Amino acid sequence: MDGDERATIEDFFAEDRSFPPDDRIRESALLTDASLYEEAEADFEAFWAAQARQLSWFEPFETVLSWELPFARWFEGGRLNASYNCLDRHVEAGLGDRVAYYFEGEPGDRRTITYAELLDEVSRCGNALRSLGVERGDRVAIYMPMIPELAIAMLACARIGAAHSVVFGGFSSEALRGRIEDAEAKVLITADGGWRRGQPVALKPNADAALEGGGASVAHVIVVRRLGEAAPDTAMKEGRDLWWHEVVADQPAHCPPEAMESEDLLYLLYTSGTTARPKGIMHTTAGYLTQVAFTHRYVFDLHPETDVYWCAADIGWVTGHSYIVYGPLANGATSVLYEGTPDHPGRDRWWSIIERYKVTILYCAPTAIRTFMKWGSEHLEAHDLSSLRVLGSVGEPINPEAWVWYRQHVGRDRCPVVDTWWQTETGAIMISPLPGVTTLKPGSATFPLPGIGAEVVDDAGRPVSRGGGYLTLTRPWPAMLRGIYGDPERYTETYWSRFPGRYFAGDGAKLDDDGYFWLLGRVDDVMNVSGHRVSTTEVESALVDHPSVAEAAVVGATDATTGQAIIAYVTVKAGVAADGAHGEELRRHVATRIGPIARPRAIIFTEDLPKTRSGKIMRRLLRDVAEGRDLGDTTTLADQSVVEELRSRAAEQPAEE
Ligand code: WTA
Repeated sequence: MDGDERATIEDFFAEDRSFPPDDRIRESALLTDASLYEEAEADFEAFWAAQARQLSWFEPFETVLSWELPFARWFEGGRLNASYNCLDRHVEAGLGDRVAYYFEGEPGDRRTITYAELLDEVSRCGNALRSLGVERGDRVAIYMPMIPELAIAMLACARIGAAHSVVFGGFSSEALRGRIEDAEAKVLITADGGWRRGQPVALKPNADAALEGGGASVAHVIVVRRLGEAAPDTAMKEGRDLWWHEVVADQPAHCPPEAMESEDLLYLLYTSGTTARPKGIMHTTAGYLTQVAFTHRYVFDLHPETDVYWCAADIGWVTGHSYIVYGPLANGATSVLYEGTPDHPGRDRWWSIIERYKVTILYCAPTAIRTFMKWGSEHLEAHDLSSLRVLGSVGEPINPEAWVWYRQHVGRDRCPVVDTWWQTETGAIMISPLPGVTTLKPGSATFPLPGIGAEVVDDAGRPVSRGGGYLTLTRPWPAMLRGIYGDPERYTETYWSRFPGRYFAGDGAKLDDDGYFWLLGRVDDVMNVSGHRVSTTEVESALVDHPSVAEAAVVGATDATTGQAIIAYVTVKAGVAADGAHGEELRRHVATRIGPIARPRAIIFTEDLPKTRSGKIMRRLLRDVAEGRDLGDTTTLADQSVVEELRSRAAEQPAEE
């Protein structure tokens, strides 16, 4: 740092490996030069308009963008239908026999669904919804496991102009009730249950509980029979509940799509804040579809005729909405859809799926990669992964070592890794490499995509050209959220007030000498150690940089001398001793790798870290554990037992050394 002013977030970690796009990718890449960046910089509205024209319109749009900060309207005057764009137009182009989804259930059941079949199913479901009184402009809640009917239900809503609100199948009945009530959903689509780690997990009882003493807007519940015999006691309420196979199967397979306006609501997706009331993020039709299709094509270098694409997220999160359903289908891609966990029946389940379907593009989260690192590479080695071409990462900062492991062991040193930064609110990928164009640096999301304006700013909102700060977006983008359902003020306050004229949603980032963006995690997690602002991400990356470490989570705990002290929770790889001496070695490693200021006060070894159900580490909980506080609401945790375990280990630690 020069001068005596301390940076908003300091920059400690230096990563100097880099990987230019290799010839194999460049030979067939959609893009191998900077032309799209230049085109978009010259006139970003014209650039997005050209992308929007790739869609099929019933009525062309008249204006590209009207922007009354912070409210954007894209492609007004146009009419289109999202399900038509995802289905009919491919079938009409003669691609009805192309596979849309290879579905694999956790128990091993398989189903291949072509575009023509998907269109039929969606049409029947759309007609079923219409027969139950669902109209254009209504909302429908969806609460399902990862089965094809989930995607079918979403597309059926889009077809008839109803907005869907998907609630992740792992959420509680209270969470479901709150979301149903906020959206005043007319119909709920659910299932008797799904499979998880070899066990049937009932879902319908949660749906019933959500509608008991609440959720009065719901007139009907449609229930998919996924478990069948394995859920013999599924109760159906007379007059309200209907089996999917009864109400959908008999419908005609022709369902005219509604001609929606560009800015009509396509869906709501609630962000699951751990403390605050969930926010119903609003996404509308044309802009969203434009940007998810564009990014899905270019970020993954999609060749829809030959690629087999697999996004291993859950459809219940935005990643699934944009990159399992709307993006891939709008592009006529063939996808894998997998219901279950990565370790059932064995820890090689993913690799056997990749081998079976000859997956060419894999998109997953750093948490999955770090779990595979922990399990060891022998699970991959027995499988033929040579079909893979492009690897993607999303959801959290990916530590450089995890990135390199992903490239080496999954990609066998042949596949580019694209680290994609975005959010539920952005709707689509914003910062990411392009495989045929960008020289990659492990752990960096590299550059804003063509058409996107992003800058790192300091506390006063001044752009930073090198070093750490707040990640802001400087201009509207087509897939941006249009607001928070029913609460325009909260929208303005939450995203547009911290830095006037800029969108800011809580992430820190730094820029290196070459202008690469490095995501530093949530600014709420930034630690203050003796007046230095240290990002959790950098200390975690320094820990994962040690060959024995698979995963690490770092928090700042109140400390009388230094303000905050760094406490690190560390998961080591299989077969490594987790003892005091090793803890010492890791503390030293961090000090050498990034500096003595970042040396953790304590290392707490753990087999698992507390994570949200979408796989993000819950640092708030770890802070509470470190400071011996009451843990409050832990219902968003994927595995409750992890925290208890950590609490007892933290209690064994000396408070100060
Ligand atoms: C984090 C998921 C670093 C970030 C699409 C963001 C990332 C939040 C990355 C949004 C990435 C997502 N590198 N951090 N590549 N991708 N994040 O709404 O903190 O579930 O704000 O959307 O995840 O999470 P959400």
